[in-house]
Amino acid sequence: MKRIFSGIQPTGEVHIGNYIGAIKQWVELTEEYDCIFCVVDYHAITVEYNIEELRDRTIETALILIACGLTPDRCRLFIQSHVPEHTELAWIFNCVTPIGELERMTQFKDKSRQHRANINMGLMDYPVLQAADILIYKAGYVPVGEDQVQHIELSREVARRFNNRFGDIFPEPQVILSHAPRILGVDGASKMSKSMNNYIGLLEDKDAIWEKLRTAVTDVNRVRRADPGNPELCNIWTIHRAFSREDELLEIDKGCRQASIGCIDCKKVLFKNMMDELIPIRDRADSLKKDRDYVIDVVRKGAKTCSEIAKKTMEEVRSSLGIFYP
Ligand code: TYM
Repeated sequence: MKRIFSGIQPTGEVHIGNYIGAIKQWVELTEEYDCIFCVVDYHAITVEYNIEELRDRTIETALILIACGLTPDRCRLFIQSHVPEHTELAWIFNCVTPIGELERMTQFKDKSRQHRANINMGLMDYPVLQAADILIYKAGYVPVGEDQVQHIELSREVARRFNNRFGDIFPEPQVILSHAPRILGVDGASKMSKSMNNYIGLLEDKDAIWEKLRTAVTDVNRVRRADPGNPELCNIWTIHRAFSREDELLEIDKGCRQASIGCIDCKKVLFKNMMDELIPIRDRADSLKKDRDYVIDVVRKGAKTCSEIAKKTMEEVRSSLGIFYP
């Protein structure tokens, strides 16, 4: 069975960009692939963070993934630091990765601008650890949103360089993009993200979600209700496509272009459909919150089976490098 690996950082709240850009697709892919999903806590410490919060967010992120449907009967789910071979392999990959390639990574440049006082080595090395996450399991496919594509391309490059120098050990992983690879924030301008205050949290209060949705930017050219709109220029439409039925989408598309429905009407339909999908997830999250031991047990077992794969890969890697390891 073909193997998939993907990960999510435990920083801030999981938002609907993560959900429709990645997690929703991860659940679907478990039907066809051998799937490994990971809460990448070591990636999260590359920027300033709150120590207590990291601990809570790490387990909460795992809890949300389970609530979304990534249950242990469908996939392996674990916490990155629980399989320390990831960082060991990252060190080895460091030795085949030119610094220039890391300096040109868009995310590194953006984060360096955002965190001027803390441009640390880990921030620059972030994609190498990401390559190790994927390649330690020899995963051939990586489902992610658009912002991660450059990092996966680097993983391919790392695999190629390693294989050229030390023998054919790693596959060159391919990206699987979701149908909603780039969701903008409620500002309609920048990517929905945890670091910008422009997101709708997956577990956020219902009224707070409506308030954010109600005021979210739509097609900026549609100034008055009577102006015809263009769904292709509207972020709400992108979100609609992830939550609404085909017949509703057709009706909204037509109504928007003919100005027979207004943005608020359109948002009301979206809100209903979004809540219909999110309420069962929230209900499951609420019951998991009362049973944290279960969540801890899931990630422990996930780490155990992932460790076995990771250890085997490391044996191959050490031997191909000429490391003395009796
Ligand atoms: P992270 O935690 O930023 O995001 C998790 C997943 O959500 C996707 N995503 C989005 N998709 C569409 N629109 C958005 N606005 C949006 N915001 C986030 C991301 O593309 C991602 O798929 N570096 C990774 C974590 C990682 C990883 C890995 C991923 C570490 N190792 C190995 C794949 C394979 C990250 O920071 O994702």
